[in-house]
This record gives sequence, structure tokens and C-alpha cells, in this order.
Amino acid sequence: MMIQAFKKWLIGYKDEKQTDESRQRIEKLQKGRLPRHVAIIMDGNGRWAQKRGLPRVAGHRQGMITIRHITRAADDLGIEALTLYSFSTENWKRPEDEVNYLMSLPEEFLRTDLDELVERNIQVRMLGRGEDLPKHTLEAINKFREATKNNTGLILSFAMNYGARSEIVRASKQIIEDVESGKLDKDSLDESLFGKYLYTVDLPEPDLLIRTSGEVRISNFMLWQLAYSELWFTDVQWPDFTRERFYQAIEDFQYRSRRYGAV
Ligand code: FPP
Repeated sequence: MMIQAFKKWLIGYKDEKQTDESRQRIEKLQKGRLPRHVAIIMDGNGRWAQKRGLPRVAGHRQGMITIRHITRAADDLGIEALTLYSFSTENWKRPEDEVNYLMSLPEEFLRTDLDELVERNIQVRMLGRGEDLPKHTLEAINKFREATKNNTGLILSFAMNYGARSEIVRASKQIIEDVESGKLDKDSLDESLFGKYLYTVDLPEPDLLIRTSGEVRISNFMLWQLAYSELWFTDVQWPDFTRERFYQAIEDFQYRSRRYGAV
């Protein structure tokens, strides 16, 4: 216990306590229908930093801390899956320093947060083309996966080197291979089976998509899976996004009615 506390102090780990207010809010939300899966486009790190005269990477660092808080918030509420758009296939076009920094964050997150994720019974996954990531980044992700693979609580997925169109093309190629090798009968292919070839395999489709920082776009994120999701946008930049705002998104979700095209 002492060692854990010392380690947390050493890495500058700030434990924000759950307030009575958020506990009450959780209880209220739990009485309504909770989204099973929440997906988030974490936008605005760069602008958050620039506004403060800081390098863009400072925004990503702060964004990582928001990930910690929102993961706790989702877990405390009892959501099944949380998926975070962490690096898109288009993000390689950013300056090399920024890409290198983003690629170092999984290792840092592993150092600072693995213990708590394990304690909380959270399972960590990755969605995306892992094979193109630097070796050290992939190793950190694999350590997360290995250490949490038997956990049965919240499924926390990082979309890293992820692009939805490339995910669909990849799935299509695999389906063609399986049909050609006789593993799959073409006539048995339907929407549900197609979904099994995507990175999200067995995850429920997101009920709610959140995007921060004022942009109102999907940006090649989970195009197949978001077909019926409720979309929720906020002007708040990701580093400033809080547990309370996350709960606000869930509360708004509960007020919306979802009809899947029916009346
Ligand atoms: C978008 O903000 C954010 C990203 C491209 C990266 C998000 C990554 C994290 C928050 C950390 C990932 C951490 C782990 C552990 C994988 P932006 O830079 O596009 O902001 P801007 O639109 O204001 O420029």
C-alpha cells in the first residue's frame, strides 16, 4: 500500500476523489438506460496547448490525464465498453516530434495507470493496424493486453493507427480470402457476420459517440459501427473534458429516443 502510494506520488499522479455530487449523479443515471458502449473522438489537445502558449504535446499529455478521469467515470457508472480515438491513420502527417510523442504515450500510460486498470478489472484492447506502429509502442500495448486479458469489467479500447475505411477494406479482403479458401460460404455473409471481421469483433455497437472541441464530423471513425449511434458534440477541448461533462452526455443520451428507423 505504502509502495503504491509512493509510486503514485513519484509519477505525479493526482487522485481526484469522487464527490458526493457525482455519486448522486451516478445513482440517478443508473436508474435510466445506460449506453453499453461509448466512443469518443478526443479532439482539441493542440488548441488547448496553443491557447496557453505551450507546445502541442503538452495538450496530448493533459489529454492522457483526461483519459484516466473519463475511464474512471465510465467504470464507476458501469458502462461495458469505452473506445477512444487515439491516433488516426491520417495522424502520421503531423510533425515528427508530435508523432513520436504520441507514440510514447502508451508506455507512459502503462507506467502510470496499469495498476489501477488491473485493480478496476478493466480489459485493455487496441483497434487498428498494430503492425505499422513503432516496436516500443506495440510492446506497451501488448503488455496492457496481456496484463488485463482475463479482466471482466469495462473494455477500454484505444483506436491507434485506426481508420474506418481501411478497417472495412481489411475486413473485405479477409472475407474474400475465407470465401476462396472455402472457410466461408458467400451466402452466409450478412451484416452481423461482416461486423465480426472488423476490429470491434464482439463489442456492442457504440450507443453514443462524443466529440470534443467544436468539430462536428466523424473523421473516418467507426463508420460501420456508428450507423445508429447518438452523436453528442461539445465545444470543450479534450484536456478540459471532465467526469461531470461525461455524465452530462449520458444524461442527454437518456433523454433522446432511439427508433432505429421505426416510428
Ligand atoms: C486530437 O487533438 C488528439 C489526438 C490526435 C491524440 C489524442 C491522444 C491522446 C489524448 C493521448 C493518447 C494516449 C494513449 C495512452 C494512447 P488535436 O491534436 O487534433 O487537437 P487540435 O485539433 O486542437 O489541433
